[in-house]
Amino acid sequence: MTTSSTSSAKAVAHTNIALIKYWGKKDSQLIVPYTSSLSLTLDKFYTETSVRFDPTLPDDIVKIDHQEVAGKSWQRVHDFLTIVRNLAGMKDHAEVISHNQVPIAAGLASSASAFAALAAAASKAAGLTLSSKDLSRLARRGSGSACRSIFGGFVEWRRGTNDLDSYAVPLKQSALNDVAIVALTVEKKHKAVSSREGMNRSVTTSPYYPTWVKVAQNDLSDLKVAINANDFTKFGNISELNAMRMHALTLSAAPDFMYFNGETLTAMNEVKRLRHDGIECYYTIDAGPNVKVLCQQANLDAIVSRFTKLLGQERVAVVHAGPGVHYL
Ligand code: DP6
Repeated sequence: MTTSSTSSAKAVAHTNIALIKYWGKKDSQLIVPYTSSLSLTLDKFYTETSVRFDPTLPDDIVKIDHQEVAGKSWQRVHDFLTIVRNLAGMKDHAEVISHNQVPIAAGLASSASAFAALAAAASKAAGLTLSSKDLSRLARRGSGSACRSIFGGFVEWRRGTNDLDSYAVPLKQSALNDVAIVALTVEKKHKAVSSREGMNRSVTTSPYYPTWVKVAQNDLSDLKVAINANDFTKFGNISELNAMRMHALTLSAAPDFMYFNGETLTAMNEVKRLRHDGIECYYTIDAGPNVKVLCQQANLDAIVSRFTKLLGQERVAVVHAGPGVHYL
């Protein structure tokens, strides 16, 4: 780690979709997870963030999508900036301006791209020059999934056991390079349990949590084998299964909760119908009702057309593998 005298910087980071999910913190303060996870960074959805440290500012200012934010969102950015200030040995406050590039209502604006972009911009603006590994460790402190958005393509977050050894690495080989994702926007009927609260409740109350820790490990090794063998069928099956195993932890928590709604189930059934019709695809779902359909380029048009009929064009978006964090 070295320092220089820059006081402002701008970075862009892309969101990622987990294929093997991160669901549970061993250390909530440092965000060290119980299990390793694996994701694909996406091309179309990203966050662009600029950070400027200014000794004359009385406090941090945070603007997201043209709106100045306060309360919990401000606090989370402020706490993250304080980690950066401590690392750089400085006290200045900062102005943070952030824009999310997400098609209207795609529900893919994420804390992953937000904190990856913030980590890159804030650390550079504070005069730090971090390695990708240290940038990943820093992004992790903002939001666990953000540590994976430092890298492009398939990325593994190795759980580690502490702040120093819990970070993401890009997969060395990935023979599987024609994966496409059809992102479906499903109507939100009520406010979901946040992923932070949801995973905490799963860890502390689901009797199946210890089993999850074991199976997630196996799912991860199997998925890596599938990716390296260019075996899309295996890749899709494992991803779908792992997502359902994660959601089983919400159903088995006390009190129980669920991220699916009626439309989520309709979309899941449609994926199964497509498979039955010989059009290979699989689903994965994060901490919300939206469904992401994994497929290969050859079947993309057929799948898009089926979901466009079902949900309407504005709720169907196609994305592919995207790049890691970079500076503007
Ligand atoms: C279901 O990274 O948003 O998307 O670390 O509390 O900020 P915090 O959680 P977050 O959780 C992501 C959960 C998930 C699975 C995943 O991305 O691996």
